[in-house]
Amino acid sequence: MHQVKLAENTYYLGYNDRRTHLFENIWPIPHGVSYNSYLIVDEKIALVDTVERQFIDDYLDQIEAIIGDRPVDYLIINHMEPDHSGAIKAIKTKYPEVTLVGNKKTFGFVESFYFKPENTLEVHDGATLELGEVKLQFQMIPMVHWPETMVTYDETNKILFSGDAFGSYGTLDGGVFDDEINLDFYEVEIMRYFTNIVGKYCPHTQRAIKKLAPLDIKMIAATHGPIWRTDLDWVLSRYNKWSTYDTDPGVIVVYGSMYGNTQKMAEVIARQLSERGIKDIRVYDASKTHSSYIINDIFKYKGFIVGSCAYNNAMFPNVQTLITTIEHMGIKDHYLGVFGNYAWNGGGVKNLMKFAENIKWDLVHDPIEEKGALKKDKFEQCIDLANAMADKLLQA
Ligand code: FEO
Repeated sequence: MHQVKLAENTYYLGYNDRRTHLFENIWPIPHGVSYNSYLIVDEKIALVDTVERQFIDDYLDQIEAIIGDRPVDYLIINHMEPDHSGAIKAIKTKYPEVTLVGNKKTFGFVESFYFKPENTLEVHDGATLELGEVKLQFQMIPMVHWPETMVTYDETNKILFSGDAFGSYGTLDGGVFDDEINLDFYEVEIMRYFTNIVGKYCPHTQRAIKKLAPLDIKMIAATHGPIWRTDLDWVLSRYNKWSTYDTDPGVIVVYGSMYGNTQKMAEVIARQLSERGIKDIRVYDASKTHSSYIINDIFKYKGFIVGSCAYNNAMFPNVQTLITTIEHMGIKDHYLGVFGNYAWNGGGVKNLMKFAENIKWDLVHDPIEEKGALKKDKFEQCIDLANAMADKLLQA
């Protein structure tokens, strides 16, 4: 195997997962994902995070290929989600004297997921650990992505081991560092990773960005995706934009439709938005496009217009799934429009209005509810809704 180094004695130990269809068993990953672990070989040897359990055997072999019969002295646990903690038990079994490095919350998770940890080093904000030449510093960044999450900063080589923060979907297909890769490929994958996984915690991400700003960081080594050593601003500026809900003046129109009547309303609205000069309009059928992609576009565009037919006196189930996910994410600061079809007893629009109340976005127009085929009166209202949305976006 090639040995990929971040610094003289710091190794990348990553694995590409092209088998898993759904990350966290929810989010589609057609381009896969990488799990990145790092090994620092100094007077003491430290691992920073591990890998998903399917890679344990080779992972242990690769560590041994680098360090021979020396033991791993420290296992630094930045984050306990099992895509990174999956090999903790295997490391502990192979290197029984290893010291687990984490914070108060980390060790509770180790016990609940794997075993009762005994040999531990509890660290707090600003705590340091010397391995020899390399001096590590720890900073807590809770909720980016779990409560125990922290980062490890190598003061000697100025490398930030950032955990999920600044990570990306997409495997590392040969290229590992940002300057080895055409980043166009990651433009979508990194945003989708952020919006799907970390997007619920935008305020926490903002806090983390500000907290880490004083560090002199020359390299960012996340647990997923490329290692950033040349154009750190590429990823930092994007994370900053997304985590402040800084959106562009476009509109997502999503609908759930069984026989095409609600879809027709969506098409009318989209065309009128275009007539008004809105260039970024994305129309999605909630039954076909996974929430992962729609949520991603909600982080891009300020306008969101959602329609649902009635389905057994309720919202169309696939729209309901999307709406529930948006509410769960707590996405802020959007313009909203609502439409749908009453069929024989309503349920779509009525429940979308409950969503409108909960999410507290700026409702630009009264909800529009047709009965059956789209007729002149509701057609005109669809035009009005699109105009109201365009007015808001164009005056902003
Ligand atoms: Fe990549 Fe939150 O684990």
